[in-house]
Amino acid sequence: MTARIIDGKKIAEEVRAEIKTKTEQLVADKGVVPGLVTILVGENPASVSYVTAKQKASKELGFHSVQDSQPAGISESELLQLVEKYNKDPGIHGILVQLPLPKHIDETKVLCAIDPDKDVDGFHPVNVGKLMIGDAKFLPCTPAGIQQLLIRSGIETEGAEVVVVGRSNIVGKPIANILLQKAKGANATVTICHTRTRDMAAHTRRADILIVAAGFPNAITADMVKDGAVVIDVGVNRVGEKPSAKTPGKMIAVLKGDVDFDAVKEKASAITPVPGGVGPMTITMLMYSTLKSAQIAAGLQ
Ligand code: GUN
Repeated sequence: MTARIIDGKKIAEEVRAEIKTKTEQLVADKGVVPGLVTILVGENPASVSYVTAKQKASKELGFHSVQDSQPAGISESELLQLVEKYNKDPGIHGILVQLPLPKHIDETKVLCAIDPDKDVDGFHPVNVGKLMIGDAKFLPCTPAGIQQLLIRSGIETEGAEVVVVGRSNIVGKPIANILLQKAKGANATVTICHTRTRDMAAHTRRADILIVAAGFPNAITADMVKDGAVVIDVGVNRVGEKPSAKTPGKMIAVLKGDVDFDAVKEKASAITPVPGGVGPMTITMLMYSTLKSAQIAAGLQ
């Protein structure tokens, strides 16, 4: 079997078009423009490129977008004060602090300082808890994007064996939680594997839907995948550089996922590519959550 390629870029464009229409309605009906601030500490190249892409998407949708870049040496208390400033700003509906933060700053403390009603990343313990009890307000963006990819690709999750590889707070734990909820686009039987799982392949081979956020290339090889499985590759590994096709003289990163794509696509029924799979959906779902926050602030939800 050769897998259908799940085109995350195309699905993300569809969702962004829906968000744009709803944003225009919100501005016309209520005079409320969704506002998003992205806070970047330091100059980690991956973080800079993610935040730049988030800002670009938010401007294209007509949002009020603020990019707040701070030096790597900012103190924890200064960063907490900055978060507090945006908590109080009525023009800002979403606050995103790009992770990871420098070692001298307690990430949990910063995430807990964000007003849960503006926590469009869904990382505040209040929002993590709400997701867990089936009353989610803001879902973490990458897992929310994965769920939309599955729904919009017509992939049935109800009763499916889902195996998640990776137990991070950003991807593994929340996607497992989302897909096990008693809800549309969920209702799956979920297993989470991690670095201490005894026989990883025994689990992954049972999966109807295999979601991989392991953090290194070729974590999943063809022998670990059941015939006809759906494979979602969340990995983004920078494996080298190549000349940009768009800008002569510029070098760009060569990206590879966590799945041995060429071999696994011959076994799976559907698979996400890297780049162009999960990535575009992550940013799109951040825009979705920012719009939702603005709609709530305008009394619409
Ligand atoms: N770093 C990697 N992924 C994410 C994300 O989804 N949100 C934030 N804030 N930082 C990240």
